[in-house]
Amino acid sequence: MNIRKILADSINEKIENINYEDLIVESISSDKGDYCLPCFSLAKILKKNPNQIALDLASNIKKSDYIEKVEVVQGYINFFLNIDRVSKDVLKEIMSSSAQTEGKGKVVCIDYGSPNLAKYLHIGHLKTLIIGESLCRLFEMFGYTVKRLNFVGDYGTPFGKIIGGIQLFGSMQEVEKRGNDALQDYYVKFNQLEEKDEKYSQMARDIFKKIEQKDEKIYPMYKKIVEISLSDAIEKFKLLGVEFDDYRGEMYYNQFVPQLVERLKKLNLLTISQGAQIVDLSAYDMPPALILKSDGTTLYASRDLSASIIRYQNYKFDKMIYLTAVEQDLHFKQWFKVAQLMKGEYASMLEHVAYGRFSLPDGKISSRRGKQAVLVDLIDYVLAKAKDVIKDRKFEIENPIDVAKKVSRAVLNFSVLKVERGKDCVFDVEKAFSFEGETAPYMQYTYTRIESIIRKFNESFADAIDSDCDYKCFNIDAFAIVKMLNDFILDCKQALIKRDPSFVAKRVMDLCKAFNKFYTSTKVLLGEKAEINAKMYLLKVLKKVLKQGFDLICIDCLKEM
Ligand code: ARG
Repeated sequence: MNIRKILADSINEKIENINYEDLIVESISSDKGDYCLPCFSLAKILKKNPNQIALDLASNIKKSDYIEKVEVVQGYINFFLNIDRVSKDVLKEIMSSSAQTEGKGKVVCIDYGSPNLAKYLHIGHLKTLIIGESLCRLFEMFGYTVKRLNFVGDYGTPFGKIIGGIQLFGSMQEVEKRGNDALQDYYVKFNQLEEKDEKYSQMARDIFKKIEQKDEKIYPMYKKIVEISLSDAIEKFKLLGVEFDDYRGEMYYNQFVPQLVERLKKLNLLTISQGAQIVDLSAYDMPPALILKSDGTTLYASRDLSASIIRYQNYKFDKMIYLTAVEQDLHFKQWFKVAQLMKGEYASMLEHVAYGRFSLPDGKISSRRGKQAVLVDLIDYVLAKAKDVIKDRKFEIENPIDVAKKVSRAVLNFSVLKVERGKDCVFDVEKAFSFEGETAPYMQYTYTRIESIIRKFNESFADAIDSDCDYKCFNIDAFAIVKMLNDFILDCKQALIKRDPSFVAKRVMDLCKAFNKFYTSTKVLLGEKAEINAKMYLLKVLKKVLKQGFDLICIDCLKEM
């Protein structure tokens, strides 16, 4: 129900070019009504003082069943809603609402969580994986067809180094046995050699050349390394509840770069600079986009550009979103510009979405395996903590391991999603487990409480409850929930438009807090039957919305906790 529109329409006197709906906001406290229209911005246009404008507009308001009364206070028109009527309509509407259809028939591709293979996933990957997954779910909620794409980094001299490392001090048997650990060791050791002696850089380049030429000895090693490392990454993604439709990455799309170069040549976009082939972007205040190095090898930008062309042929997307750390801003700006200059019809559908840094407080988790903390170490640490927390609960939990897994995943995911996408965040593991603060366990626990109240109710009152409800008993705390529930879809819309799931995360948290406030102030199972029915119906709708919200922010609902 669009409450703002109902209120805006109730004002009979219209002002040219002003849409009251855009001005109406929630009141800050209940004595100032439920919603209000501040008239300050109108003062300039009407050349009257705001309070006079408020009085004039309020004197001519259409009667509506939804509006209880209207008051003017210091330049504000305060609207008090009819709790009974609004609650009845809002709850019924949400309970019977069907799926959103605005994205029907449209395809959105999201490229996220794309690691460089043969290295450990680090904690920064959590951001792209979780924000990406949440965005996918948001698009799906609005009816879009979503393709989850992982552009794996399986190309470049690092693979030359790893194979060099294997040749110098390892074996493929070791790689098969120890997987990514072995690959990482060889990589680190090889880098140490290279630091001392430049000849190893040449060795890595030579080996990589052989990979490109599909050398019969080297290429199978490379393939095996990619296979082992990709399945390791997929396993880690699964721990976080993320799975992709398409894992074709840099190596795959590299084969289409010659086609791309031909097209660029035809369009007269290529110039040669110090032997390299570039697209000059000085007219757009950007450094040139490098397409081919002087030795003819491709670059990250050329592979991304060729992938976009092929992906468009494959998926006919209406939107292609790339989710990466903000550091890659220029990379995307550059090659998006080249796509535009090539007049690809899809160029306007490309979009880069960037996120801020994710870090741990110093010394929390030792980064024993390199510069950045490794993602599985964090996952393991949080899981161990979840197990401890669950052990301390007073009652028996049927499947503690499963619950611990779901709690730990929720803790990780919420720590990412509660923060505005573009902002940096530091993940404080201790705080994230508190049942009191704004945490994932608090939310999951709230959900189990709602479930158990509904269960209890169903035991004692077997009849249907959506008819025969008396909403007049709703206090401000109950009505606060109603209003939030009504706004939920707007928050999701906002999250979708801004590509920022934190709008949903915040609302889901607010709903949990609102429930707990309501539950403290209200005896839910007390009163006339029609009153209890109304309160139960509210909880049922709340449960429905929370379930949807939890799913959007990748948090599992629990039966007990
Ligand atoms: N593999 C890259 C990295 O780890 C991210 C890839 C993002 N996707 C893309 N199409 N460029 O930095």
